[in-house]
Amino acid sequence: GDIFSFVMKRESCDFREALRLLGERAGVNTDQRRDTQEDARRARLFEMNEAAAAFFQAALQREDGAHGARAQVAREYLAERRMAPASVERFQIGYAPNSWDALLEHMKGRGFGAEELVAAGLAVEGERGPYDRFRHRLMFPIRDERGRVCGFGGRVLAGDALGSGDGHQPKYVNTSQSAIFDKGSMLYGLDLAKDAIRAEGRAVIVEGYMDVIAAHEHGYANVVASMGTALTERQVALLRRHTNTLVLALDSDNAGSEATVRSAYEIINNSLRRRPVANARGVVRQVDAVDIDLRVLSLPDGLDPDDAIRDAPETWPARVDGAMPVLDHLFDVSARRHDLSSPRGQSAIVAELAPVIALTADRVLQSHYLQRLSRMTGVDEATLRLELRPPRAQAGRSAAPPAQRAPARVRDRREEFCLALLFKYPELRAEACELSPELFGHSENRSLFESWVSWADDGESFESTLTPDVRPQYERILSIDVPTYDDEQLAQALRSIVWGIEQQRLRTAKRASAAALAGMSAEEGARIAEDARARIAGDVTVDPADDEADPAAVFVEDMEAGLKVHRRLLEQRSAGRSRGEVVHEQ
Ligand code: UTP
Ligand code: MN
Repeated sequence: GDIFSFVMKRESCDFREALRLLGERAGVNTDQRRDTQEDARRARLFEMNEAAAAFFQAALQREDGAHGARAQVAREYLAERRMAPASVERFQIGYAPNSWDALLEHMKGRGFGAEELVAAGLAVEGERGPYDRFRHRLMFPIRDERGRVCGFGGRVLAGDALGSGDGHQPKYVNTSQSAIFDKGSMLYGLDLAKDAIRAEGRAVIVEGYMDVIAAHEHGYANVVASMGTALTERQVALLRRHTNTLVLALDSDNAGSEATVRSAYEIINNSLRRRPVANARGVVRQVDAVDIDLRVLSLPDGLDPDDAIRDAPETWPARVDGAMPVLDHLFDVSARRHDLSSPRGQSAIVAELAPVIALTADRVLQSHYLQRLSRMTGVDEATLRLELRPPRAQAGRSAAPPAQRAPARVRDRREEFCLALLFKYPELRAEACELSPELFGHSENRSLFESWVSWADDGESFESTLTPDVRPQYERILSIDVPTYDDEQLAQALRSIVWGIEQQRLRTAKRASAAALAGMSAEEGARIAEDARARIAGDVTVDPADDEADPAAVFVEDMEAGLKVHRRLLEQRSAGRSRGEVVHEQ
């Protein structure tokens, strides 16, 4: 069922109550009576913004009067940016006069008090009273999905504006947050774009007002703007109602664009997953974000979507079609930035890409990109997998060195022999069931082991329970020559092969960490080594002399300490077993 039926069931309440509870959780007031009051207040805010938009629009066209001459600057700017008059109309572009009170005065005449204007974020409360927030700026009304003006973005224009005597003029100023305006919850152009987004099954997200307007002007109406900030969860939720294919088209000169891509991907994979999201009307819906297909359109250097479209409108559809899946894009960026042939470069690439691969909720995709990262850097998948763990899990892991796994395609004779032993001697089952599947680094071996452990042995042959993908490996293992053992020898044989696998794994770990160290700063390496050693020793005091130690040597020492710990564990386990106890590995 949906989130409502879930809450209704759990709280044994009716739909209205469930709505109220969920609304409360989402911070939305769903109380009926207060809603009416709130609705009235919001309606008034919309009215005010609508009136202000009309005022700015008219001011843009005026050639006479006190502000006519300055408005000319705005008109010239629009011409310079090649904006068509029809777009000026359609997007209600306006001009805020260079005045402290032009808007305040105009709105007073229409029955809106100064206090209300301050509440709407259109005026600012100063020491000597309220004054107009926007002065000598090009005005972009920002409308919600239903086309209601909620706030504005005001762009700086040539020539000083009042109050900017110190020479500093932010390029853009927005309406301050109000009951109806919150930049992060809105997408510029969505009212005009939503039908096209549905029709095309895809939304293109650009950064700025100008980009949206250029696109729409040329018939590309599925374009909206995030308005300069990193895409928010609420913005994604807005789009998600119309499509699940999102194309990010960022300014090419935006140094933060990579961070924007990463954060968008993070939002999509994490925070939106199976979570109720409330819209402004208090309607709560469950959003499942995993199915969002995020793509990235990269423009050639120095080109914004605005320029790209105006310079060569016909090339836009191909650019959008050519947008790359987000991870492919990030792979490209990393590969271009670092030297693939140096250990340091490889390490940097892993550091950049492992966290985004780790974010990938879709396991199949995750595995695909992990393999690709392994091929690209030459670091084996097993080592990479360790990088995928969230930092907290990594810090809390057991004292024993991490399990290292061989790449799936490399055969592991010890693992195979171990399985052959199990398949030949069913009496090992009880003991074998205590082994961790993690023992097997080779994925097919692991899955054979797991199948064998869960195999019921009630008439159905083990082989018939196997999926076709692991059968060849099964045949291979069956062809291994396993000696005939008596009971005593058999137990010994299993223990020694398990020990052999674990040792091998530790050796691999050692090599991997040495390789990782080679590409790591000495400082970082030493810190990690110290950390590991303190944990292995079960004590967290660290000798300051270690600060100067060669990180590689320290690390190798750690691995040896790890080996000892492991050996002890193994001895404990076999001793425990002979006493009939169960000793857990951690
Ligand atoms: P930029 O500051 O990168 O502007 O903000 P730009 O792309 O160079 O601007 P133009 O194209 O010359 O006008 C990018 C976009 O972010 C939004 C605006 O939509 C702007 O177009 N923005 C930025 C705001 O709305 N408010 C801000 O305070 C900053
Ligand atoms: Mn721009």
